[in-house]
Amino acid sequence: MTEHRTLRVALLGAGSVGSQVARLLLAHADDLAERSGARLELAGILVRNPDAPRDAELPRELLTTDAEALILGADIVIELMGGIEPARTHVLAALRSGADVVTGNKALLATHGAEIFEAADQVGASVSYEAAVAAAIPIIRPLRDSLAGDRIVRIFGIVNGSTNFILDSMDREGLAAEDAQRIATELGYLEADPTLDLEGYDAAQKAAILASLAFHTQVSIEDVHRQGIESVTAGMIADARRAGYVIKLLAICERLGGAEGDEISVRVYPALIDRDHPLASVHGGNNAVFVEAEAAGPLMFYGAGAGGAQTASAVLGDVVSAARRHIAGGVGIGESARQSLPIAPIGRITTRYQITLEVEDQPGVLATVAGILSEENVSVATALQTVDADEAATARIVIGTHRASEEALSGTVARLAGTPVVTRVVSVLRVEGE
Ligand code: NDP
Ligand code: HSE
Repeated sequence: MTEHRTLRVALLGAGSVGSQVARLLLAHADDLAERSGARLELAGILVRNPDAPRDAELPRELLTTDAEALILGADIVIELMGGIEPARTHVLAALRSGADVVTGNKALLATHGAEIFEAADQVGASVSYEAAVAAAIPIIRPLRDSLAGDRIVRIFGIVNGSTNFILDSMDREGLAAEDAQRIATELGYLEADPTLDLEGYDAAQKAAILASLAFHTQVSIEDVHRQGIESVTAGMIADARRAGYVIKLLAICERLGGAEGDEISVRVYPALIDRDHPLASVHGGNNAVFVEAEAAGPLMFYGAGAGGAQTASAVLGDVVSAARRHIAGGVGIGESARQSLPIAPIGRITTRYQITLEVEDQPGVLATVAGILSEENVSVATALQTVDADEAATARIVIGTHRASEEALSGTVARLAGTPVVTRVVSVLRVEGE
């Protein structure tokens, strides 16, 4: 067997992902040495509580709570703790000591990315984060390397596995949201703080990372228009199904041509997708990302968007390339923010909408509603009125609009909500993917 140089690997975190990374590093040690050109020695594993019950395969003697000692002298530091602090402090300490960093921490990158990439540049170290977006799916490397000669126009897709699992289980199996969330937790899909997933922060962090790479612009979480799935009810999912749609939490990063030059829009929200659209058949914890590039045209990336072993695969890929760089020498590839494109306000974005209203069942209601839409310059594509059999006094109107701006739409919805014949605005959903 070839004699390899040994590189010391420090692993920060032994949770859903970290424990799988440790397992693969140990189980495939010989193979990884051949692939990377270096023997990867797992020097230690940082945890909060070394006495907590853990997978029997995890070598207990490697567990430590001494981050400083573990990071000092490491060639590669793998951060899989999650959250901002102390992850940020440990990542910066690792980079300042000259180690390469591999992380799956989108929260950290979407809030402190600029600081971390600058720290890496200063010492010529690398920061790799394939696992931070869409877990097992290779999407960071394609954007950073394979498409480096092209111009990205749009990224559009499902980047959060747990909310996709929840929406999909509600749609296909009729599960209650709480039951679907419990199963997603058992599968290790949810963040330690599940509101990050449910309220769309996790998807927004990933959208910020994708937009930064695609448009060479520093995009942070504050730049992303965000709406989660907390207001999506079983009723909305059933209504969508009856109308031939499915509800998906989408992340959209777009380059928009403006009078003053290009702008970008980065947004996350639940939207209606036609059941024939490829994204409608992304089930369970899977993710799918469409990338539209000027020369390459549309590309689709699909696979596991969450899960310990699946995410560990992406982490290990980054570890092998960091090891190869250590062996070959040279500096890590820096992040590019050379374009610094402005972020377009959400009011400028146009989409189609579906508005569901509960109205009084009396003559002229449809005409009143249509009149308001017309006055607000929102053009109606379809309108359907149904009478609620149980409550004969009310009816439902489902209006599909042509493309309208967010600004015009929000003005329209506010007026509709204040109209006496409208008893309730049941839902307002964007229709995407057309
Ligand atoms: P877990 O919550 O399962 O694990 C976190 C680990 O970090 C635990 O071992 C914990 O120690 C340790 N840890 C946390 N805080 C500290 C601290 N202050 N000091 C020492 N150790 C600490 O997280 P996941 O494995 O699910 O996720 C890890 C990272 O990967 C996150 O950034 C997440 O966003 C990202 N990711 C997760 C995916 C998934 O499917 N789970 C997919 C893609 C990315 P202890 O065990 O003692 O509690
Ligand atoms: N909580 C995340 C998700 C894990 O559900 O997609 C993968 O990043």
